[in-house]
This record gives sequence, structure tokens and C-alpha cells, in this order.
Amino acid sequence: MPVSKNVKLPHLFYGGDYNPEQWPEEVWKDDMRLMNKAGVNMVSVGIFSWAALQPGPDTYDFAWLDRLMDLMAEHGIMADLATATASPPAWMAKLHPESLPVDENGARYAQGSRQHYCPNSKAFRLYGQRLVRKLAERYKEHPALAMWHINNEYACHISQCFCDECSREFRVWLEKRYGTIDELNARWGTNFWSQKYYEWDEIGLPGKTPTYANPGQQLDYKRFMSDSLLDAYLGEQRILKEITPNLPIMTNFMGAFKPLDQFEWAKHIDVITWDSYPEPTAGIPVFAAMQHDLMRSMKGGQPFILMEQVTSQVNWRQHNPLKRPGVMRLWSYQTIAHGGDGVMFFQWRQSGAGAEKFHGAMVTHTGDENSRIYREVEQLGQELKQLDALVDSRVEAKVAIVFDWHNWWALELDSKPSRDVLYLEQIKQYYQALFEHNVGVDFVQPNADLSGYKLVLAPALYMVGPGVAANLESYVTNGGTLLTTFFSGMVDENDRIHLGGYPAPLRKLLGICVEEFDPMIPGQTNGIAVSGSGEYSCSLWADLIRLEGANDRATFTTDFFAGSPAITEHSFGEGKAYYVGTQPEAGFIKQFIGGLLTDLELQAPLMAPAGVELSVRTAASGERYIFALNHNSQAANIGLSEGVFVELISGQSASTSLELAPNGVAILQLQQ
Ligand code: GLA
Ligand code: ZN
Repeated sequence: MPVSKNVKLPHLFYGGDYNPEQWPEEVWKDDMRLMNKAGVNMVSVGIFSWAALQPGPDTYDFAWLDRLMDLMAEHGIMADLATATASPPAWMAKLHPESLPVDENGARYAQGSRQHYCPNSKAFRLYGQRLVRKLAERYKEHPALAMWHINNEYACHISQCFCDECSREFRVWLEKRYGTIDELNARWGTNFWSQKYYEWDEIGLPGKTPTYANPGQQLDYKRFMSDSLLDAYLGEQRILKEITPNLPIMTNFMGAFKPLDQFEWAKHIDVITWDSYPEPTAGIPVFAAMQHDLMRSMKGGQPFILMEQVTSQVNWRQHNPLKRPGVMRLWSYQTIAHGGDGVMFFQWRQSGAGAEKFHGAMVTHTGDENSRIYREVEQLGQELKQLDALVDSRVEAKVAIVFDWHNWWALELDSKPSRDVLYLEQIKQYYQALFEHNVGVDFVQPNADLSGYKLVLAPALYMVGPGVAANLESYVTNGGTLLTTFFSGMVDENDRIHLGGYPAPLRKLLGICVEEFDPMIPGQTNGIAVSGSGEYSCSLWADLIRLEGANDRATFTTDFFAGSPAITEHSFGEGKAYYVGTQPEAGFIKQFIGGLLTDLELQAPLMAPAGVELSVRTAASGERYIFALNHNSQAANIGLSEGVFVELISGQSASTSLELAPNGVAILQLQQ
């Protein structure tokens, strides 16, 4: 089962994290039997094996991994082999206490959990890379080796470190970025509060400060930490590339995860993988769908792998309810519907000890195939085996949402007009509307080529860095439709205000000037009157907008700015630019976005009732696969007016309409 560098896989991946060092070797044979029975074709091995592989600074033990890899090869199970650097062994903390990370109060973290390393620690890098070289040299020709898994969920627990080594490296990073101290002072606006620097070694990390630290410094520190972690990744990646140039190399992401600028990371990752743990009781997993789309967008639509999800329940929420029968299957298909080419779990066999012993797994504490969970795992595995046709097919979206980690960091720094303007919340509201209209969505960076999209949404684009306004202008000039919202266009890439009337760099494009804004306190509302469609409630924020060429589509109904514009529309070149100067109620957003979709002739692929999610993947041959996912607890009927379809999981054909069971899934291919 070869896996080439461009990750064109012959099958959908199916498996999970496998931690055999937690079990006596006689259990491994049974693992293989149960994996084969469930249709598992790949497992992630060695993620937390550093201590098992290296008992001391100069001693290694690969014998057990040799035996395991051979056993896997014999049973046709591929290894997503980890570099094992996610949790350093105890001897490292003893020999190199400085390798442990430091919190913002200057306290060092203790050994004895996981991820207890400073990303800039020389000792961590040195020992880690030494181990990586040994692993790569040893297993480079091994028939079970399919892919490299570097470290694990970088920054999951430790996303910042305030140690001396980090402080030194921060100054090196800043000097490289700004060249001169004068430039740094200008970018950070250090004439404020006597913060001016004269020497590089006066600059520290924005740790514990009496009140707000310098926002430019805070923002650059976030960039620096993301870059430091990436540099740790690259240190391992370079070794693997040198020794196994044809194998895919990756680390697993965590979806819309704030600490890492994942667009930047993605340039150095061959296949995007991520770990998804939706709230089990939150109803339709819209946020999971959004994150699947975000992950697919990390490499321009290339299929991703869901590296972890849970079969049943996790152990780390306050309360950890079970996924109901059929839900794991439904959510697994949601992954594939959004462009996933693999569905994996944490973990294969439920641990008998340790902090995750109550975390669900594919094989539960019964230890065998006699559990509901295993039966569901086996059924899904057997189904996925029949779906090779889906591999490498693409989701082709005509709508994009602008997403930017630097914007996220800057928007949510402290001392803002409102603490309740949160980036993901703003993005989610607009995503939800598109999701409910069953229209596919990509995520793009603000500087991306937007010409392939009919509609681009840029909610809360607070930071408009170099080139961004010009990019948006040229998109709209050439016929695109853009929508942006309040508190956009406020600052440059160093969090300095774009002076000259908000949203200064976007004023021409939007045809408005925002003279003032009025954040609302929790519970406070205003209203918007929309010509021809009535009144709706709005909250959180109200912009005081002066029209400069735009028309108003809605006006505020109360307070001293009653009657002034709340939503505007501006024809610009061949296209249109919309601005939403408040947070309207969800029903209005759905309706307004629905109107734009109709104008742009963007429709759902089929007729489906509420709670049925639709998504389309298209193969290189042009063949289209329509996924229908019934998130309702009752059966649902979807209309198939277009013709006769074959449903790929059951092999049955269907025309006119199709009934989906509660939690049911269909993958439809048009026959005629
Ligand atoms: C993360 C980690 C896994 C495991 C799971 C538990 O995703 O990568 O090692 O701890 O969480 O949900
Ligand atoms: Zn550090």
C-alpha cells in the first residue's frame, strides 16, 4: 500500500493512535487480529514512546519497536510512525532542568505529565533530533512505514514559554524582523508610557506586567512562539526529509487552534491532519464542519486526514457523555464529506492505567470485540473499504471566508472597546448561515487569490496588513461580492491604528466612513429596520456610519443614532461590497446571506429538510459524490429530482426521493 509524497492514497485511512508499550506483547497479536477484523489499515505508533525507546541519554532500545513494526507489516497495517518527541523522558528533566518550560510568573513546569519542554530548549532539540535520526535510519526501508508523525499537537498544553532561552531567542527574532531598534520602537509605538528601547538587551518577554503590556510586543511574542514551535518541528522534519525524501511528513493540528499560525505551518506539512472532539451534546456539529473546511483549506483543498476523534467519550470535560449509537459513524462521514481522506481515533485500545484510562477507544476495557463500540468501529471500517472512489476527490467551493491567525491574535489582545468581540464567534455566525444553506465554503488568507470565488466573507477583519486592501479591491473590481463586518480595517500588522476615519484602508471599497462605534453591554440590544423585510434585533456593537457612496440596506431603530445606516451596500467596479455594522440576530444573517447566494446563483446540491447536511466531492474525472447526513433524530426525506442515483454505501439505487434514517448517511452518485 504505497503512500506517495503527494498523498494520493489508494484507500481511505482507517485506524488510530496505537500505544503498545502500555501492554504486554501477547496482547499485540490480538490487536492485529482485531485491527484486521475492523478494516484498520494504518495506526499511529510511538507518539509517547520516548522513554521506552531511550532509557538514558546514551542508551536506546528499539528491539520492541522492531518486533512491533514486523508484526504490523505481516498483518498489512501501515505505520504512521511518530518521532516520539511529544513527551521527554524523566532523565532529560533531571539532566537538563532548563529544558522544562516556564510560565508567565516565572515558575517552571514539572516533569511527569507530557509536553513539558521549552520549544527553544537546546537540550530538547539536541536529544530529540538525535532520536529522530536513529528512528529514520532504522526504519527507512521498513515495509510498514507509511508516514512520519512529528511530535504531537504542538502547543496543545504549552503554547508559550517565558524562560531565559526564549527571551534570548525573542531578541534574535526581533532583530531579524526589524533590523534596527528605531524600527522596532516605531512599530511598537514605544513613545507611549516610556516604553522606548535603546539596546536590544533591554527587551524582554511580555510576561507578568503591572497592567497592559505593549500590544506590538504581545503580538510579536505570539508570532515568535508560533515560529519557535515551527522551528522545533522543522528541526525534525529536515532530518526525515534527508533520510526518507519520499515519505509524507506531518504533525497533527487541532483545528481552529489559536496559538499556531497554521497557514504558515502548512507550507511545511505534506498532509494536513487534525484532531476533532466536538461537544457530544451540542446538536449538529457545525463547528466541526467548519474546522474540517478550515483544515482542507490549509493546503488549497488537498484532502486531509482526521487523525483523532473518540469512539465514545473523552475524559477531559467536566462531564463526559457517550456518543449515541450511530453518531460516531455520522460524524466520521461528515469528515469525509468535507474533504477528509481518512478517519482515525484516539486511541486503539483503551488504557488500563494513566490519566486517560477513562478515555474511549476502538477496543474498550472489555478487551475484545464484544462491545457496542467495537461493533460500530468494525461496521464503519468495513464500509470505508468500499469507498476507494472517493480518495483524492475535492470539495469545490465558490464561497470563501477570510481567516487570519494574526488578525485573531491582534483582535483579542487586551484593552479593546469590547471584550466580547471574539474572532471565532464572529466567523462562526457567518459560517453557520452558509452551512444551513448547504453551500460549500473554503477558508482563505487575506492576501489569497480570490478570483475563483463568487462570494467572499471577511468578518471582523480588524487587521488589514500590507496588500490586503488592494487585494480586496481588485477582487470586487473584477466582479466579486465581498461582505465585511464591524471593527474591520482598524489596524496594521503591528496593531497600530489606520488613521483617517475607520475603516481607513477599506473606506473607498465600502463607500462609508465609520465615525464612532458603540459597543453594547451584555443583554443590551438595538434593532435594525430592513426595507421590505421588517425589523430584527441586533446586539454587541453598533457603528455610526456616514455614507460615502454606499446605500443603506438596513438602519438602526433606537438610541440617538436611530435611522442611521447599519448595513450598507456599495457597487464598486463590476462587483459589490457589503458592510454589516452590528451583530444582527442569527435568523437575519441566514436570510441576508441566503439573498446573496440567490443573487449569485449559488445553491444547495439537493433539496433537503432542516438538519440534513449536504456536501459535494468531485473526482478528477468530474464524477460528483453528494453526501447527505441526517443529523435529526427522526428520518428525513431528500428530494432527488435530478435523476437516478446509486448510493455508494448500500449499493442501492434511488430516484425521486431518498429516506435517511435518524443519524443516517447517503453518498449519492448520479447514474443518468
Ligand atoms: C489529544 C492528544 C491525544 C489524547 C487525546 C485525548 O488529542 O493528541 O494524545 O490525549 O487528546 O482526547
Ligand atoms: Zn523557553
